[in-house]
Amino acid sequence: MARVPFIAGNWKMYKTATEAVAFIRALPALIEGGDGVEVVVAPTFLALPAAVEAAKGTKIGIASQNLHFAAEGAYTGEVSASMVKDAGAGYAIIGHSERRQYFAETDESVNKKVHSAMAAGLVPIVCVGETLAEREAGNTFDVVKRQLIEGLKGIDATAIPGIVVAYEPVWAIGTGKTASPEQAQEVHAFLRSQLTATFGADAAAGTRILYGGSVKPDNVDELMGKADIDGALVGGAALKPESFARLVTFKKA
Ligand code: PGA
Repeated sequence: MARVPFIAGNWKMYKTATEAVAFIRALPALIEGGDGVEVVVAPTFLALPAAVEAAKGTKIGIASQNLHFAAEGAYTGEVSASMVKDAGAGYAIIGHSERRQYFAETDESVNKKVHSAMAAGLVPIVCVGETLAEREAGNTFDVVKRQLIEGLKGIDATAIPGIVVAYEPVWAIGTGKTASPEQAQEVHAFLRSQLTATFGADAAAGTRILYGGSVKPDNVDELMGKADIDGALVGGAALKPESFARLVTFKKA
C-alpha cells in the first residue's frame, strides 16, 4: 500500500494566532512543488480557530499539540478532543517527549488520548522515542516497542493506518543532533515490524512513520530517501515558512 508522505510542523509554545495566520497565508505559494504530500502544522490551542480559518481552501491541515483524554469535566486548564475537533483541526500530536518529560505523560495517558482522539475523528500523531541514557544502555528497541504497543493498545487493526506514528529520539530534539538516516531507518523498520506482529502486515504497510529530531532543509532529502521513513515531525525548522516549505518539497536522496 502506498503511503502518502507526511510533513508536520510542531510549533510548540511559539507563534501567536496572528503569527500562525501569517505563516499559513505565506505557505501555499512556497509549496507548489509539494503535491502528493500531506502537510500539517500544529499551533497552540489558542491559535487553532484562526489557523483553521486561514488554512481554508489550502491543503494545509491543522493539528493540536495535545489534548485531554476525558470528553469533558472538571479539569481546569485542559482541552478535550471534541473541542479540538470542533475548532476545525483534523489531527492531534499525542505523547510528545516534552509532554512525557515535563507534564508527566505516561504510556497509559497516551493510550487514553489516542482513543479519545480517534473517537472524536482526529488523526492521532503518536510520538515515541528513547532518551540518550536509554540509547546508551542499549534499550532503544525495548523503549520504543513499549511506547508503541502500550500507546496503541485496544485500537482495532483496521484503524491503525489512520494513525500516524512519529519516532523522535529525545536526544535529537532541539539539539541539532539528528539521528543518521541509517539510525532512523533501523528504528523505523523495527517499529513497522512491531506493528506487523501486533496488528498484521496490512496495518503495518499502511501506517506512516515519521522521523522527528532536528530535521532541517539540509538533511530532509536523505531521511526521506529511506524505505520506512514516511515523513517528518519538525520543530525548529518548521517555524519559518521558507524553511518548512523546503521540507515539504523534499527530494528523496
Ligand atoms: P526539532 O523538534 O525539529 O526542533 O528537533 C522536533 C519535535 O520536537 O517534534
